[in-house]
Amino acid sequence: MRGHQKLSLCLRSSFIDHSRGHQKLSLCLRSSFIDHSRGHQKLLGGLFMKRVLSGIQPSGKLTLGNYIGALQNFVALQHEHECYFMVVDLHAITVPQEPAALREQTESVASLFIASGIDPSKASIFLQSHVPAHAELGWLLTTQTYMGELERMTQFKDKSAGKDSIGAGLFVYPSLMAADILLYNTDLVPVGDDQKQHLELTRDLAQRFNHKYGATFKIPEPFIPKVGARIMSLDDASKKMSKSNPNPGSYIALLDSPDEIRKKLSRSTTDSGREVIFDPQNKPEISNLMTIYANCSGLTLEAVAARYEGQGYGQFKKDLAEHVVQVIEPLQEKYRTIRSSGEIGRILKEGAERVGTVAEQTLRSVKERMGFLL
Ligand code: TYM
Repeated sequence: MRGHQKLSLCLRSSFIDHSRGHQKLSLCLRSSFIDHSRGHQKLLGGLFMKRVLSGIQPSGKLTLGNYIGALQNFVALQHEHECYFMVVDLHAITVPQEPAALREQTESVASLFIASGIDPSKASIFLQSHVPAHAELGWLLTTQTYMGELERMTQFKDKSAGKDSIGAGLFVYPSLMAADILLYNTDLVPVGDDQKQHLELTRDLAQRFNHKYGATFKIPEPFIPKVGARIMSLDDASKKMSKSNPNPGSYIALLDSPDEIRKKLSRSTTDSGREVIFDPQNKPEISNLMTIYANCSGLTLEAVAARYEGQGYGQFKKDLAEHVVQVIEPLQEKYRTIRSSGEIGRILKEGAERVGTVAEQTLRSVKERMGFLL
C-alpha cells in the first residue's frame, strides 16, 4: 500500500435544515488517505476539508427535481467542503445529441450551476470533457466491471427500453461515472435517489480494485437529501420528474417563466379528498407537492401541513406556485447575467485546470498499479 494513512480531525458543520433536506453533520474523527501523489486536500481552519464531487448531464432542460435533489445541496456543501461540480458532457453523448444543441446545453447547465448559487471562487466548476483523465480511467474501470453488474442498472433498463439500437456507451455509463468520482478521492457525492445504484457500483468497483491492486481509491459516501431525493412528475406521482418526459406539463424547468410555473402547478394532479397531509403511500400527488413546497419555502413538512389544515388544495397550490417562483425568479436573473457576461468559458477553463492535476495524479497511480509502463 503506497498511500500513507493519517488520522485527521475533521470538523463538519451542522447546516441542518430538515425542511430543506440537508443531512445532519457532526464533529467526527476520521481516517483520511493523504497520499501527496494524489493531490492536496484543502484545509479549513487547519483541518482537512471533505471533498465533494457531483455532476449533471447537459441533456435538455434542468428541472426543479435537479435543483431540489442536487443543486440545492451543492450550494449548501460548498461553504465547508472542497467541492468539484461538473457538467458531464461525456455522459450526455451516450444518447444521440445534436452538436449545436450539446454546445448550448453545456453552457446553459454550467451557467445554471452559478445561477443556483455555486460560487466559482469556492467550488471548482468544470466540464468532464476538459479533463481527459475521465475518459481514460473510465476505460480502465470498464475492464474491471462485470456485464451482470451493468445489466442490473435500472437507469440502463429505463433508457434502453423499447429502443432498437442502443449505444454501447449507455451500457458502460456507470463505469465512467465511477471514474468521475474515484479520480478525486471523493468523500461525499450529493445526488438524488435515482443515482444510488450507480454509487453502490462505484463503491464496489473501488473495493474490488483496492483488493486486487492495493489501496488506491477512497470509498465514497452518497449524500442523499431526506426530503426531496425524488421529486415526482406533476401529472403522475408514480414517475420521477424528468427533463426527458415528452409532456412539458409534467415538470418545471428552471428556465420556465413564472406564468408557466403558475399554470403547471395549478394544473398538477392532486389526489382525491382535500386534506394537505404528507402520506406518500395513500396521497402520493399531494405529498410530492408538499415536498416541493417544503424545499422552496424552507418550512418543514409538518409546518406545511399545519398551515393548510382544513383549507383544501386551492390555496395550497396558489401559495406553492409563489414559493417556487420566489426561488426561480432570482435564479433566472442571475442566469441571464452570467450568460451575457461571457465569463463562463474562463470559469470552466480555470475549474478544469484546478482539478486536472488531482485527476492526473490518481490516473498515474492507477496505471502504475495495473502494470502500465509510465
Ligand atoms: P442527471 O443529470 O440525470 O441528474 C442530475 C442530478 O439531479 C438529480 N435528480 C433528481 N433529484 C430529485 N428528484 C428528481 N426528479 C431528480 N431528477 C434528477 C439526480 O439524482 C442527480 O443527482 N449519472 C448522473 C450524472 C453523473 C454524476 C457523476 C453524478 C455523472 N457522473 C458523478 C455524481 C457523480 C446523472 O445522470 O444525473
